[in-house]
Amino acid sequence: MTARTLFSAGITGTGMSFPEKILSNADLEKMVETNDQWIVERTGIKERRIVEPGTPASVHGIEAAKQAMAMAGAQPEEIDLIVVPTVTPDMLFPSTCCIIQEALGCKNAWGYDLIAACSGFVFALQTARAQVESGAVKKALVIGTEVMSSIVDYTDRNTCILFGDGAGAVVVERLEDGREGIIDTINHIDGVGGKFLYQKAGGSLHPATHETIDAKMHFIHQEGREVYKYAVKGMAGVTQEVLEKNGVAGSDVKLFVAHQANLRIIEHVARKVGLSEEQVALTIHRFGNTTSATIPSALHIYHEQGMLEPGDLVVLCAFGAGFTWGATLLRWTVGA
Ligand code: UT7
Repeated sequence: MTARTLFSAGITGTGMSFPEKILSNADLEKMVETNDQWIVERTGIKERRIVEPGTPASVHGIEAAKQAMAMAGAQPEEIDLIVVPTVTPDMLFPSTCCIIQEALGCKNAWGYDLIAACSGFVFALQTARAQVESGAVKKALVIGTEVMSSIVDYTDRNTCILFGDGAGAVVVERLEDGREGIIDTINHIDGVGGKFLYQKAGGSLHPATHETIDAKMHFIHQEGREVYKYAVKGMAGVTQEVLEKNGVAGSDVKLFVAHQANLRIIEHVARKVGLSEEQVALTIHRFGNTTSATIPSALHIYHEQGMLEPGDLVVLCAFGAGFTWGATLLRWTVGA
């Protein structure tokens, strides 16, 4: 908590929801020219979950949020703010936040969707934290939810092996007893990334036409090698920045929860920062890259497995389209 904040904000509940349907590497071998060995060696992904066609992002977001609220002991009407980081909203407007708010019965909440691609959760957590620390709201929901399968071209082997669908959510609330919760966040953006990772059509630049559809402009395009280089540099740099700024040694960190885009990126970053294998959260083998859902769902999994105790130091780190990247240092406050 910095000198200018009135209150301390902490995570008090987590949840996650994934579709049942598994898309394995063997399934993808039948769809594009790829193989299990290449996918596992280059990315660490063994399988990912995908929704039945027509299932919108709000569906798994609602379920993840219900779990997070139950863990936090928060009633729907106590939620003051809902932030939904997503690049696959149900529709451009109304926001997916409004759809989820109505379904949850959070009648006293306001909120919005936030686009920061794979950094969405870290950016959204910072906005919720700031609202809680300022005293403007007491309880907030941050819900990363994605249906990446709705924007993936399943004939493009460069991207279709990477992404999965799912959601993760947390409750962020005022810690009345002044305990330390979310300690610090450092976020960055650099528009240089726009040419390496994008979904070109569907906005005002290229509204949907027969031509944009024929040219596959509504799908994700990624220059993987370029993004990889920026991701390693950005994630390692910002993680070191947040640790050094707060006088925290790598060995003090209980869990490093990086955005799950590529196992090699996560291992590379952990090595650069000086973190051991035991400190690094990994879920990519099960779910692939679920964009804004990777970090909250990993927090939920590691909490449920008993790997996080109140007071543990946790570092979150993400990198995504834009480019966007950031790191958050926090003390675990679920169950305290
Ligand atoms: O989440 C937001 C941020 N995104 C990221 O952080 C992703 C960053 N990038 C990556 O994770 C990696 O670059 C990828 C996993 C996307 C690709 O791995 P790579 O080791 O960088 O492979 P590459 O793109 O350099 O491709 C190497 C070779 C190419 O063949 P040639 O040109 O060497 O003959 C590709 O055509 O592998 C080929 N290839 C494949 N082969 C089998 C590309 N995709 C596949 C595939 N199966 N699915």
